[in-house]
Amino acid sequence: MKRRAAAAAVEAVRDHMVIGLGTGSTAAFVVELLARRVADGLAVSAVATSRGTEAAARALGIPILPLAGLSRIDLCIDGVDEIDPELRAIKGGGGAMLIEKIVASMAKRNIAVADASKRVPRLGARPVPLEVLPAAQAFVAARVADLGASAVLRGGTGAAFVTDAGNAILDCRFGPIADPAALATALSAIPGVFGHGLFVTEIDGLYIADAAGNVALET
Ligand code: A5P
Repeated sequence: MKRRAAAAAVEAVRDHMVIGLGTGSTAAFVVELLARRVADGLAVSAVATSRGTEAAARALGIPILPLAGLSRIDLCIDGVDEIDPELRAIKGGGGAMLIEKIVASMAKRNIAVADASKRVPRLGARPVPLEVLPAAQAFVAARVADLGASAVLRGGTGAAFVTDAGNAILDCRFGPIADPAALATALSAIPGVFGHGLFVTEIDGLYIADAAGNVALET
């Protein structure tokens, strides 16, 4: 299912585009399938949302541009952890949501790719990840508690997950989220939070594949 959704999105890639490459198992299919098209002569360059994706893309021959030099790209393709009917999503299961959101926001078109298991009627079954300054983790966790959620340090004390930017992740379990936009604003306002996995406005379209192998485009 993930591969079929990825294949549908990769078909939208055209010569001379700059492509944002997401992170995760679905995005890995995007990298693999895009690399095949590059090997067949497609002329594109790409920017990666994580070190892992960058290494995979380079290994398969996709030309990679440094993120620091880019402000606008043509198309971003990335996975999601949850997505609702309004194309609002939770991302960051792989810990890359800070750079994923930057790359998604610089894209003229940002496409999500998912299998049917990612569809939810309302966001919040999974925790919302926050990328936080390590020294601010207790402070941010207290602010998150004020917003009604419990925050858990990803990896745990002593073995904390470290993002590509050198930060920690707090996974914050809110339960069903009634107003994702308001929560996104509140989380962004906490000092020490660099970014969060709530994507409220960034996703323009979704290729979602069902168990029968059918892929639908939602916009
Ligand atoms: C990476 O940080 C995440 O945002 C992923 O895009 C998300 O977790 C989807 O991953 P899978 O495609 O592996 O489910």
